Amino acid sequence: MTLFENLQSRIFKDARWLQPLSEPPSGKPLCRESDLEFMASFLLEIFRTGHGRNLFIYGKPGTGKTVCIRYLLNEINKHAEETEMPVSAVYVNAGRTRTPYYTMLEIVKGSGFKVPEAGWQMFRLKSAFENVLEEKAIVVAIDEVDAIIYKEREPIIYYLNSQPKTTLILVSNKIEDAAQLPERALSTLQPKLIKLEPYNFEETKKILKDRVEHAFQPKAISNRLLNKVAETASESGDIRTGFSVLLSAGSDAERAEKSKIDSEDIQSAFKGKRMIELLKKLQDIKSRVEKRKRKKRKFKLF
Ligand SMILES: Nc1ncnc2c1ncn2[C@@H]1O[C@H](COP(=O)(O)OP(=O)(O)O)[C@@H](O)[C@H]1O
Ligand SMILES: [Mg+2]
Repeated sequence: MTLFENLQSRIFKDARWLQPLSEPPSGKPLCRESDLEFMASFLLEIFRTGHGRNLFIYGKPGTGKTVCIRYLLNEINKHAEETEMPVSAVYVNAGRTRTPYYTMLEIVKGSGFKVPEAGWQMFRLKSAFENVLEEKAIVVAIDEVDAIIYKEREPIIYYLNSQPKTTLILVSNKIEDAAQLPERALSTLQPKLIKLEPYNFEETKKILKDRVEHAFQPKAISNRLLNKVAETASESGDIRTGFSVLLSAGSDAERAEKSKIDSEDIQSAFKGKRMIELLKKLQDIKSRVEKRKRKKRKFKLF
């Protein structure tokens, strides 16, 4: 055995498959076939008329919204290429871009326009977008749209909706009920509302098993322990819980130089996860209290 073989992990094959932002190993989300077909059925028209139905996709964190939308956009681009249709799909995450301006900038760049480093003003971005539309239809997917949908100034989604050959896919992490959507969004965009429900036990197990096969060495985790992780992850409703518990249990087992993950590793990973969630909740409460205090102080000034 060489020095390097000796150093190889006994637990992990490739831990990247358990990262919270990792793509599905096969490239296609598992257990979402019918949801994806349902979404696609509203977009099919784009290839005939340049216009599809706007979609509003919502559901709790960790229900596969981002991964499904990215897959859908990829399929749109692939189909457009294969059929030589002038259609293209662009993805932007408003949770990252935050402002209407940066969201628009990403959309224009994503639709193939070269924007100079120094940047453009909003009106130039808009006219660049309109130029692109003269050549092709565009599907714009705005993930984590909560970050901009309530903004009063420059409501970018209404501008996009008013453009010809533009179809919107809005994705929300926060809105758990369509009734929370601004009235204007419902009446102007008339979107088809699609809710992604949390994965049940069987689905969670299937998704986690696929990751385990790619991330761990064969036999690094027993079926019984995997069932336990899947059970708790499906109860939490967030598939990421499963990923993070497996990753942390795997790292513990590795550090302790075990050849298999045991129930102790799984238990302490669950405990660690709960601790982090608790700390996050406390932090949330603290910042809400601070905010309220600041508001009160502001009032007192007048
Ligand atoms: N159906 C699925 N098949 C395979 N992996 C999935 C599936 N759903 C979610 N995942 C994975 O779980 C993680 C979280 O999914 P994500 O799409 O970001 O959830 P959401 O956007 O709803 O919060 C990602 O790593 C993603 O690849
Ligand atoms: Mg997401």
